[in-house]
Amino acid sequence: MKNQFKKHNIDIDEYYAHILKELKKGISITSSAGGRTNSMTISWGMLGIQWNKPIFTAFIRTGRFTHKLLEQNPQFTINIPTDNRPAKILSYLGSRSGHDEDKTGILGLHLVEGENIDVPGIAELPLTLECNVIYKQLQQRELFLNNNRIVEQLYPQNIPSQFSGNNCDFHTAFYGEIVGAYIIKSL
Ligand SMILES: Cc1cc2nc3c(=O)[nH]c(=O)nc-3n(C[C@H](O)[C@H](O)[C@H](O)COP(=O)(O)O)c2cc1C
Repeated sequence: MKNQFKKHNIDIDEYYAHILKELKKGISITSSAGGRTNSMTISWGMLGIQWNKPIFTAFIRTGRFTHKLLEQNPQFTINIPTDNRPAKILSYLGSRSGHDEDKTGILGLHLVEGENIDVPGIAELPLTLECNVIYKQLQQRELFLNNNRIVEQLYPQNIPSQFSGNNCDFHTAFYGEIVGAYIIKSL
């Protein structure tokens, strides 16, 4: 597939506002391990600096298929719309699970081989950040400060792990060093 597309490198500093604006609406994270590639929608994340490196931090509930793949291969791409928002794709990726099906295959997404990591980008969500996880941390109920409402609302213990929305699982924060940034364009 990679011959159909070219990558136009970008300076992420110039795209912070765009990335954060799209994040609020929903973007995608892609992971690959053991012969599987999977994408899911996220709207929680952070873009910034730590350890003198540019970092994208994704917050993934422990029961997601994405979490399983990130445990096996700690690398991911972040896939962001540019001109057009493919709302149907993002809705599908955010409501179905790779535990049950090959979402990218079913949607016929064009996966474009990574430059610096073994995880592809997605031509339909062309602004791509390639990330290597350098730190991860499971968030814990005990560490929320005086804010039981967040725990009650966002971690309902009666909703099983398989539910695609808010459920009983807490999030792992995956801190990914951004090692590549580009826009995928058709040739
Ligand atoms: C707009 C939107 C934003 C979402 N943000 C997150 C998120 O930041 N973290 C998370 O764990 N799940 C989030 N989800 C839920 C996952 O996308 C959903 O559970 C998905 O089916 C998981 O896919 P997977 O099991 O293939 O990894 C979001 C869903 C939507 C629709």
